[in-house]
Amino acid sequence: MDWVFPAAQRRATAEYAKVNESNVEVDIEFTQTVNKGMAEDTMDATNTSADANTGTDTSTSTSTSTGIQRQHMLQFIRCATQAPSGHNTQPWKFRIHDGHTIDIVPDFAKTLPVVDTNNRELYISLGCALENLCIAAGHEGYGYDIVSQGKQGITIHLAKGTSENEDGLFTQIKARQTNRGVYSGRTMDDETLLALDQVRVQPDTRMYVAKIGERFADTLTQYIVQGNDMQMNDDDFKNELISWMRFTKGEVERMRDGLAHDVMGFPAIPRAVGRLIVGGFLKPRKQNESDLAKIRSSSHLVLLTTKHNTVSEWIDLGRTLESLLLTATKFNLAHAYLNPPCEIAALADGMRTALPIHEEYPSLIVRLGYADPMPCSPRQSVEKVIE
Ligand SMILES: Cc1cc2nc3c(=O)[nH]c(=O)nc-3n(C[C@H](O)[C@H](O)[C@H](O)COP(=O)(O)O)c2cc1C
Repeated sequence: MDWVFPAAQRRATAEYAKVNESNVEVDIEFTQTVNKGMAEDTMDATNTSADANTGTDTSTSTSTSTGIQRQHMLQFIRCATQAPSGHNTQPWKFRIHDGHTIDIVPDFAKTLPVVDTNNRELYISLGCALENLCIAAGHEGYGYDIVSQGKQGITIHLAKGTSENEDGLFTQIKARQTNRGVYSGRTMDDETLLALDQVRVQPDTRMYVAKIGERFADTLTQYIVQGNDMQMNDDDFKNELISWMRFTKGEVERMRDGLAHDVMGFPAIPRAVGRLIVGGFLKPRKQNESDLAKIRSSSHLVLLTTKHNTVSEWIDLGRTLESLLLTATKFNLAHAYLNPPCEIAALADGMRTALPIHEEYPSLIVRLGYADPMPCSPRQSVEKVIE
């Protein structure tokens, strides 16, 4: 087979209406009504059902006559914090106000200025958190309006209503994990590939799924190799990466963010020793040997793109990504990232014309395949991320 195909282009079932597209770099305001029939007067503050899967904190269960139970708000935020983020920075803060509104705002203390120069991956991470929050709200029977999304963050209105989106993804929020290991070499069958069509691809984002060995995947792989060559010769990149690595159990427990040693597949070691060892591994040849073996062991590569490379689209791309990852998890597929060529502007520009992607903006590359589970990444407590 030759070039491949946007596999799952099904739009979100949501009705989507952009009110103002005039200046995406400022803030895009739009309304998205997902659960039809949602209305203020259907709000129900008396629902006390807690979901053990999300570890609801019942000690904070307060409610108002018009607002949503605080315990549900906290439950939704906890689910949002289970989202993936670049280097596990968890670059988000949450605000709860007026009984039925949650803001997800960027935490600019958690940027990655070297690898993520324009904060694209930060906003993608916020989009992943948003998707989890919406899925959790839907699971609990709430509808949501995304009132605004842009540079300042995202505002979501919640209201009790009839939930339509029970697609089995809620239980995957806790199960999902990045798995950086070598996979089994097994290829997805057609049925599983078709199941990826359940992914909710947000407007102006696209998802290209390519089987390992096909030309599209080979071209991506060539760019990944070039990206590794450049990043592994960049001391600033390596220092930033190492600064987010957590080498000891104490570091992991104290920080509850970053890349924990066991998740990365090595034992606890003193930071000074860890820096030396990891520094020795971060070499172009070693990185490429390792990544090529991991790609060969995978089933498919997925490239995610946006149409205009705007902040609002990055958030939407995060939603698409999280929907993909949760759907993949549901079908027992492992996933990991191979982003270097999207992170280096010259290579991303090259991919825009080298690949049949209509000059869209390549933003993220993920591999999918089959593997045994890895240890889970830590998360900060809900209390810590609420402003
Ligand atoms: C936008 C974005 C970019 C990421 N880039 C990489 C990457 O380049 N390499 C990698 O190994 N993991 C990458 N990750 C995965 C994160 O490191 C991972 O989500 C985080 O460590 C939390 O772990 P979890 O996904 O298992 O919950 C990325 C995640 C996101 C959302």
